[in-house]
Amino acid sequence: MTPPSTAAVPPDAKVAGDVIEVTDSRTGATHSLPVTDGAIRANDLKKIRTQDEDDPGLLSYDPAFLNTASCRSSITYIDGDKGILRYRGYPIEQLAEGSSFLEVAWLLRRGELPNQTEYDQFVHDITYHTYVHENMRKFLEGFRYDAHPMAMLNSSVAALASFYPTSRNIMDEKERNISMIRLLAKLPTLAAFCYRHAKGLPFVYPDNRLSYVDNFLSMVARMTEPKYEANPIFSKALEVLFILHADHEQNCSTSAVRAVGSSHVDPFSAMSAGIAALFGPLHGGANEQVLRMIEEIGSVKRVPEFIEGVKAGKGKLMGFGHRVYKSYDPRATIVKKLADEVFAVVGVDKDLEIALELERIALSDDYFISRKLYPNVDFYTGLIYRSMAFPTDFFTVLFAIARTAGWLAQWEEMLLDKEQKIARPRQIYTGYDERAYARKIAL
Ligand code: CMC
Repeated sequence: MTPPSTAAVPPDAKVAGDVIEVTDSRTGATHSLPVTDGAIRANDLKKIRTQDEDDPGLLSYDPAFLNTASCRSSITYIDGDKGILRYRGYPIEQLAEGSSFLEVAWLLRRGELPNQTEYDQFVHDITYHTYVHENMRKFLEGFRYDAHPMAMLNSSVAALASFYPTSRNIMDEKERNISMIRLLAKLPTLAAFCYRHAKGLPFVYPDNRLSYVDNFLSMVARMTEPKYEANPIFSKALEVLFILHADHEQNCSTSAVRAVGSSHVDPFSAMSAGIAALFGPLHGGANEQVLRMIEEIGSVKRVPEFIEGVKAGKGKLMGFGHRVYKSYDPRATIVKKLADEVFAVVGVDKDLEIALELERIALSDDYFISRKLYPNVDFYTGLIYRSMAFPTDFFTVLFAIARTAGWLAQWEEMLLDKEQKIARPRQIYTGYDERAYARKIAL
């Protein structure tokens, strides 16, 4: 293979104009790399080769995808420096103020707000599919009483694939549609069943007279009453929290859904990959960890000592920091206001006082200021969930119900994107060169 001396812009690149010229100090060759939408194609780097015949071409090395766009997406826009979050162009603040979770779920997938007929049909379809197969009861009963609800949710969503084998026809629009409806409809049911199992309480079946959020609260909390009446403050808080959590572009769990979905597996399996990723404490599991951290701190007067420990590298301040936001997470601003509304009803407790002190000290400390570490969405959500009497290990389940809307929209966008193929990153091999096998054990 002869190395190119000067690589021309490929004729199929349809470059509007912007090109980056790179001179390779190894060969002296200059290469032109087209720039589109502020990005070069990593695949174009392949053309940059040395004289070595075996050189496969230049790779880009980007552990943890710090600076790699893995797709084009028109769903969610984030400007991390300005603290902007928009779904399909609509600011998160306006959606949180005036929308419903199901309207947002429709918007994320379809790109436009639904009209009345579309919305009513969508709500009807979701309501109609909230029941799960009775065998799911037996499946869930197999878990120990202290099983983590995220582990239960993850497995039960994966198990749904076995109930809907035709969902594997992912290129059939009808199949995709019904799977997406089923997932949105059944997630609250499965989540509530996980809760009731942990509490040793009988499962409560969906009540089709109730809204999405109220039906979920009913399945969680209903006892003997014929119709569950949710506290309106709690319904509103959960509706807003579901909207805030519905999507967040290419985060860890969404990337997991896209990567797993890119193998063309069924959507239930792809969503369970998302739930698995969300479970981790650096991602959705942070809301649980914030509460555990606050409990460990125990009192306001121990906050300075805890902060000093974080600065000395003894742990992280959970609920702080974000890969993309380098200013206040816009969701955290909304959540904080929401928390005030909820606490005005249920009262302020000592944990909130600890959280406020943590935030106050961290926001005035140079360690956090210089690293641009601000409270993220998970800092206050746990406090709201706990005031609603949700157990700490259930917080991430609430996040998962909401994020299902975003995962589904992103999964379908990936499937229909002609440029996407099976996700398959490259590596830089750092292991041994070939060596002869010499057994060290007796077989
Ligand atoms: N507490 C103390 N120091 C921190 C924190 C924190 N929460 N987050 C980052 N840092 C430090 C980190 O040690 C590093 O310092 P240095 O430059 O001295 O090595 C610097 O800030 C940059 O951090 P990073 O680890 O390179 O940042 P990242 O983009 O890889 O990580 C993060 C982002 C969210 C994983 C991280 O900030 C973190 O672990 N936060 C705590 C967990 C958390 O709240 N996660 C929820 C994220 S928002 C919701 C979601 O995604 O689900």
